[in-house]
Amino acid sequence: MEQWIEKIEHSRDLEELEQIRIELFGKKGYFAQEFQRLKELPDEEKPGVAKELNSAKNRLYELIQRRKDLLLAQEIQRKMAQERLDPSLYDPKEFKGALHPVTYTLDRIIEYFLALNYAIESGPLVEEDFYNFEALNLPKHHPARDMQDTFYFRDGKLLRTHTSPVQIRTMEKQTPPIRMISPGPVFRRDYDLTHTPMFHQVEGLMVDEKGEVDFSNLKYILEDFLKYMFGDVAVRFRPSFFPFTEPSAEVDISCIFCEGRGCRVCSQTGWLEVLGCGMVDPNVFKAVGYENVSGFAFGLGVERFAMLNYRIPDLRILFEGDLRLLEQFR
Ligand code: PHE
Repeated sequence: MEQWIEKIEHSRDLEELEQIRIELFGKKGYFAQEFQRLKELPDEEKPGVAKELNSAKNRLYELIQRRKDLLLAQEIQRKMAQERLDPSLYDPKEFKGALHPVTYTLDRIIEYFLALNYAIESGPLVEEDFYNFEALNLPKHHPARDMQDTFYFRDGKLLRTHTSPVQIRTMEKQTPPIRMISPGPVFRRDYDLTHTPMFHQVEGLMVDEKGEVDFSNLKYILEDFLKYMFGDVAVRFRPSFFPFTEPSAEVDISCIFCEGRGCRVCSQTGWLEVLGCGMVDPNVFKAVGYENVSGFAFGLGVERFAMLNYRIPDLRILFEGDLRLLEQFR
């Protein structure tokens, strides 16, 4: 024991200390062997020896931790004394800022709808269950709630999983006709090539007297919008389901990478899904006390648009702040 303490206290750097740690706690280390040997002892001796071993183990472990903190601090001190920052390395003339690709894309989307006289609305990011789910025709225990993995707070509030709650808040405050978009961040418990826990959506909503807004208006606007965003693409509407719209559709554009012939990006289908939409469900109007109206709504992911537009293969790199990506947008 004493000799181990000595060894730890005299270790000169992190490497040496790590070596000692392995000698002590490694798979074939001192303690592993001691505990092996325990098996050979007579039963009545086992508890006493095991207790001693455990307390030695804890003590040495703590000593190593403490020594490690000290050596680490020393190392940082040494580095700070030795290393020097060379500010002449970068030419400030080369250091122009640029908008983030997501900001570019968002600006372009907003521009389109501003020109059609849509208002821009916003809502809280920490949202109430009522606005994020209940009023959108997603009652508690509705299986469709599983579609969105939600970050909940202890008090029952949540990080909004989509921008649709802003529809509800806007309809509560205003009377029809309504023409609005709501851009902003949303949050879901997701992380892979095409999902990040935070991303941006743009919600759209148009409501007017019953009969004034129908599916053909929705179809016209979205087709025009997608051609504005992606150039000369084909647009198709596929029947789908959202609890807050009926009927609902998902909208595809012909693949901009292979012009519809089929490639890896479109999984050989020739189509890319780009947004969700539909006619506002009567239950949603009921929740906000609207009568005798009709309306359409749509929602899209801004990062997905940016990825397609700029051919970015991994969504996560949009949030890593890597200058090699950002410099391309100067
Ligand atoms: N809120 C939906 C989503 O996050 C998108 C959507 C909005 C669909 C409005 C239809 C109408 O997936």
